[in-house]
Amino acid sequence: MKRLAILASGSGSNAEKIMEHFQNSEIAEITLVASNKADAFVLERANKFGVPTFTFSRKEMDAGVLLEKLQEENIDWVILAGFLLKIPVELTRAFPDRMVNIHPALLPKYGGKGMYGSLVHEAVKAAGDTETGITIHLVNENYDEGRIVFQASTPVTEADTPDSIAEKVHALEHKHFPEVIEGLL
Ligand code: GRF
Repeated sequence: MKRLAILASGSGSNAEKIMEHFQNSEIAEITLVASNKADAFVLERANKFGVPTFTFSRKEMDAGVLLEKLQEENIDWVILAGFLLKIPVELTRAFPDRMVNIHPALLPKYGGKGMYGSLVHEAVKAAGDTETGITIHLVNENYDEGRIVFQASTPVTEADTPDSIAEKVHALEHKHFPEVIEGLL
């Protein structure tokens, strides 16, 4: 049984889909949901599934507290699902090719610093792109540059707004992220 930890900073709708997917799995179990926000809704979702939670500050993470916790819990894979802090290098090194992130655009477009959440969808709209999508990638020391393992796209029409683009992208994420994780394990 692989032991998975999810790191998330916000609502956690992806985390919920992942917890649902692996609820009765024989290959993996979500054994921890960790967040840098004590009031993140993802923690309530974890409670609902009976998954233990852990919260920490940026300072604590940078001082190695999160890494220690992940090692203590014998975590095999780290899943980033809307985690907004930059991961310390020691953490990426501790999980070589065993840390995966989802990005709400077709990388290498709209990646890098400052490209998260609605800012991504606003940039797609402003550029007049006719498609966008999701990218699931391994995390290395240069955040958005790890090996891409999966992409899926969706059309963007003139009638789309950043909000409607976000909805389409979220739907793609929910559909694919759990099964792509399972494929990686
Ligand atoms: C997702 O769009 C993901 O791609 C991005 O953050 C968002 C998290 O959404 N990295 P949720 O918290 O899972 O609803």
